[in-house]
Amino acid sequence: MSKLTRRNFVKTTFAAGLAASVLPTDRVLGANSDIRIAVVGFNSRGRSLIGGFNALDGVRVAALCDIDSAVLNRVADGLDKKTKTKVQRYTDIRKLLSNKNIDAVAFATPVHWNGYGTLLALDAGKDVYVEKPVCHTLQEGQLMLAAARKKKLIVQSGTQNRSDIGMRAVVPDIQGGKLGKIEFIHSYWNRPRGNIGKVTGPQQPPSTVDYDLYLGPAPKKPMMRKRFHYDWHWQWDYGCGEVCNLGNHQIDMARWVAGIDRLPDQTITFGGRAYDDDGQTPNTMLTAFLYNDNIPIFWESRNLPAVPGKRGSDPIMGSTAAIYAKCEGGYFVGGRGGGSTYDNAGKLIKKYPGDGGGRSHLQNFIDAVRSRKHETLRAEIAIGRLSTSMCHLSNISYKLGKVAAPGDNCYTKQIEALKINPYFATRWESMQAHLKINKVDTNKTPMLIGAPLQMDAKTETFTGPAETAKKATALATKDYRAGFTLPG
Ligand SMILES: NC(=O)c1ccc[n+]([C@@H]2O[C@H](COP(=O)([O-])OP(=O)(O)OC[C@H]3O[C@@H](n4cnc5c(N)ncnc54)[C@H](O)[C@@H]3O)[C@@H](O)[C@H]2O)c1
Repeated sequence: MSKLTRRNFVKTTFAAGLAASVLPTDRVLGANSDIRIAVVGFNSRGRSLIGGFNALDGVRVAALCDIDSAVLNRVADGLDKKTKTKVQRYTDIRKLLSNKNIDAVAFATPVHWNGYGTLLALDAGKDVYVEKPVCHTLQEGQLMLAAARKKKLIVQSGTQNRSDIGMRAVVPDIQGGKLGKIEFIHSYWNRPRGNIGKVTGPQQPPSTVDYDLYLGPAPKKPMMRKRFHYDWHWQWDYGCGEVCNLGNHQIDMARWVAGIDRLPDQTITFGGRAYDDDGQTPNTMLTAFLYNDNIPIFWESRNLPAVPGKRGSDPIMGSTAAIYAKCEGGYFVGGRGGGSTYDNAGKLIKKYPGDGGGRSHLQNFIDAVRSRKHETLRAEIAIGRLSTSMCHLSNISYKLGKVAAPGDNCYTKQIEALKINPYFATRWESMQAHLKINKVDTNKTPMLIGAPLQMDAKTETFTGPAETAKKATALATKDYRAGFTLPG
């Protein structure tokens, strides 16, 4: 681990960093005052970032970096052809960061590199656009925020729904009380995903991959899955599961609509992985984020289909991916691409058409890079790291969970003990029915009842029963491999 110990990280970096003031820097822009941006990681999402940034006025994708030379050369060749220039190519991000001609770096890498790479980039004085989930642990998120403030750099989270015109229109309406008081917000994304397979021993990564650089700060372990790209999402060393993946977007929107800008006082997760494969993260999950002085936020995801062998997934309030904001006088269902408000009888009140937010989210980042005003960012790192940290809390509760005895109604008892809005219990009942339809034998693949986590949200330290708090604190950090320790 770095010089920061697990015990002192909150006090030494988080609080100190937040106290730092924010002033514009005297950054010198590139020729013709173009913003020169480097994109890191583009097997998939990064390609949208390359296209999106290059399409903006006064922005140039000047460098590309990927540890897979096949991906690097394919994408760089395409870009060279399109722009009739030569983009600089890198395999090692550390070399890229020493290039003084790069103003900003965009990350679309596995999660163990998103946050760590951002910290390296901030240390090198670059502004950053970082894909969600922005950090791999709570600690990383805190360090990113502190570093951005200390260095007066601009950091935008890739949660582009914050720029969706439909969402931007509905949030003030809901917060302004058009539907009455908010009662709870249920965020969800049900998307069937197949089993990722189960290997019997170490696999050879593609020959074009620099595997040591790929691992970076992660433990030195062989590849233990069939597919190199993308399936890292479901292994803890590199990803953090569906809650961090699709859930990050939904939980972020729920928190935004609720107007909540802190971590919850309590978190509890129920769920499991209903496959015997190389994936480690839950693929069936239900989490309650509870606030002493505010409404609860729920998160739900199902990676099994609605009907075994068929493609579709279970809709909730008519949608498989949305937030459902229940208010006294009606409700909103929607998210990326907009949504609608309804009265309590289900009659449409108003449509809020959306646009996905993608392009204007990138423009919003570039505008802040020019103005040096981080307050103008729609998904500033202070926002992004809070939403990602909620995803991590969901996982920490799960990781510290216990197997429930068959037939035991401990889930219901726990929901009652935590005084969670009764709606949550109906979601758990629905999830059990869904598992039954999918013929999941919960004796063989048990659903865990997560540890109820308690937190002092002001200092972001775990409280409550000492043993749970200690274990949760350990899971809020991680070790960084020698050669890839934290900067500073
Ligand atoms: N905002 C969105 O809507 C959205 C959509 C999709 C994905 N994402 C996010 O984008 C990120 C990437 O997802 P993906 O689906 O493109 O994954 P992917 O596995 O398809 O691609 C990741 C790329 O990163 C490269 N890479 C890994 N380590 C690297 C390193 N140290 N330096 C340089 N390159 C490295 C890999 O070789 C690969 O090309 C994830 O954080 C994901 O959650 C966001």
